Amino acid sequence: MRQPFIAGNWKMHKTNQEAVDMVEELVDLVEGIDDVDIAICAPATALAPLNEVIADTNIALGAEDMHWKEEGAYTGEISPLMLKDVGCEYVILGHSERRGYFGETDKDVNKKVQTALKHDLKPIICVGESLAQREAGETKDIVKEQVLAALDGVTKNDLEVITVAYEPIWAIGTGKSATTEEANEVIKYIRDVMRNEFGKVADEIRIQYGGSVKPHNISEFMATSDIDGALVGSASLKAQSFADIVKFE
Ligand code: PGA
Repeated sequence: MRQPFIAGNWKMHKTNQEAVDMVEELVDLVEGIDDVDIAICAPATALAPLNEVIADTNIALGAEDMHWKEEGAYTGEISPLMLKDVGCEYVILGHSERRGYFGETDKDVNKKVQTALKHDLKPIICVGESLAQREAGETKDIVKEQVLAALDGVTKNDLEVITVAYEPIWAIGTGKSATTEEANEVIKYIRDVMRNEFGKVADEIRIQYGGSVKPHNISEFMATSDIDGALVGSASLKAQSFADIVKFE
């Protein structure tokens, strides 16, 4: 049984005060929920204060990115050791905004995945096609390439802590989500790709859908055969809407 996993991705939003206020409200709203894993992935500046707010709650902390080296001359970057130090359990890797705006490649994502695993950070690996790629019928080829490249060199044991997030780029922040059928079809395919590569451990891996997930559409996604949760952008910024998504049933 794959436990549902709902993660918020705040992107470049919230000062520390705003972050703390939101999560304090969220803690009360989701108190006692133990059949859904909940995480907030926040900007690096907010991680340390949030770590105090989420202590002894059912909310886990995640980062939005990290560098693949433990330390070094990489001005502006954040290392896995720093993320561990402020209580992160998860780290989003390969988000399409990192790939698109900052030139992150599949190889970079793979290096980050390897380092995250080495330091007991659980990667949430994002994959997804652009609108042009979907229209050209390339969706499956693209996600297969991204998934296999990100997982290159990963062992079956390590795979268990990984989450994959299928996020079609055209659905992110646009208000236009994929249909449940479209999303489930690609997610099922991603699981097949992982099963071919790693065997039946693929059936334990959680695969989220991301892209304009809202309180009103989450239950449709969660009712499908293969979608195990959501990576939520704008609807994760308010405690009430994120809590409504967490309580999707
Ligand atoms: P959105 O973002 O929910 O605002 O579409 C999702 C994401 O980028 O993870």
